[in-house]
Amino acid sequence: MTVTKPFLRALAGETVTPPPFWLMRQAGRYLPEYRATRAQAGSFLDLCYNPELAVEVTLQPLRRYGFDAAILFSDILVVPDGLGQQVAFKEGEGPVLAPIRSARDLDGLDISGLHDRMAPVYATVNGLSKAIPATTALIGFSGAPWTVATYMVEGGGSKDFANTKRLMWSEPETFARLMDLLVEATGQYLIRQIDNGAEAIQIFDTWAGALPETEFRKWVIEPARKLVERIHAERPGIPVIGFPRGAGILYEAYVTETKVNGVSLDTSVPLDWAAKVLQPKCTVQGNLDPILVVAGGEALDAGIDRILKALGKGPFIFNLGHGIIPPTPPENVARLAERVKAFKG
Ligand code: CP3
Repeated sequence: MTVTKPFLRALAGETVTPPPFWLMRQAGRYLPEYRATRAQAGSFLDLCYNPELAVEVTLQPLRRYGFDAAILFSDILVVPDGLGQQVAFKEGEGPVLAPIRSARDLDGLDISGLHDRMAPVYATVNGLSKAIPATTALIGFSGAPWTVATYMVEGGGSKDFANTKRLMWSEPETFARLMDLLVEATGQYLIRQIDNGAEAIQIFDTWAGALPETEFRKWVIEPARKLVERIHAERPGIPVIGFPRGAGILYEAYVTETKVNGVSLDTSVPLDWAAKVLQPKCTVQGNLDPILVVAGGEALDAGIDRILKALGKGPFIFNLGHGIIPPTPPENVARLAERVKAFKG
């Protein structure tokens, strides 16, 4: 079958002009219609596990801005929930988990209930594959094992990942067992998303940049390599985008060694370097600073133009360097959408 959706053409290595675009966290609190549906659902996890409402919030930003890709509405922390860890999202506090700090805590987790617990997520993917416009691609996603492990061990967000790194260095066997469990669970979870209609996968490694080189290779590159290898072997033709946020010059080793089809650039990646070093190896995605979309005006326009000029001549997907944030004025997103769509190369 020939690939016709612009987002998938770009991921197959074509230069598409104007470039396909979508925004990380494109469904979310900056949209009044999201806040209304979210209130109707109850808790955030209730929304993630309600296929009808999760489909609705996924579609909301597409209706406004005509993005080239829809991303499944869910969260990276549904996987720990599916493994039996207690996970809650507290209003104004973010995620709170019962921390895994020892081999005994880890013994309490179990992969056997994963797919039953994830059934509503798979139903959302299935519903979306039927509901999205014909030229829009459907992205499934997961957190990367390292980033998910940080939330599991810290019991929530963290500034320095002290508990996770201590486990990694002081109890290497326990940490390796946790990572193996996450690689296996994440692999199975992503394959099921593909079988329910996901046409591409993005793996979010938000805290990749927190690791020294040796550990980055072991716990960021190696798990991503295994996941990409599994997806390519078991579901050929499904492209994978990796997002090793904060990887710096290790972005190059990440791309070369994991064999991702696309790489999502954080805001700090120099554009000329990305064009010269990364773009010949795979499709690049990114990397507008999300605060520029809050600021708006001419600064926003200039930021967009710089990225289009530097990366628009090769395989490229326009996106942010990290997720859109709640104070973003929706009209600034409209301004961004218009400007990207008007790009003529
Ligand atoms: O991009 C999308 O539109 C799809 C949905 C999506 C969400 N989270 C919805 C969400 C995706 C792809 C994610 C990924 C995610 N979740 C990451 C990786 C990407 C990144 O942003 O770094 C991480 C680290 C998480 C964990 C997470 N989820 C945190 C730390 C928080 C609390 C912070 C916050 O923004 O509130 C969440 C909650 C969350 N995930 C919300 C949404 C829309 C807000 C919850 C709400 O509506 O109250």
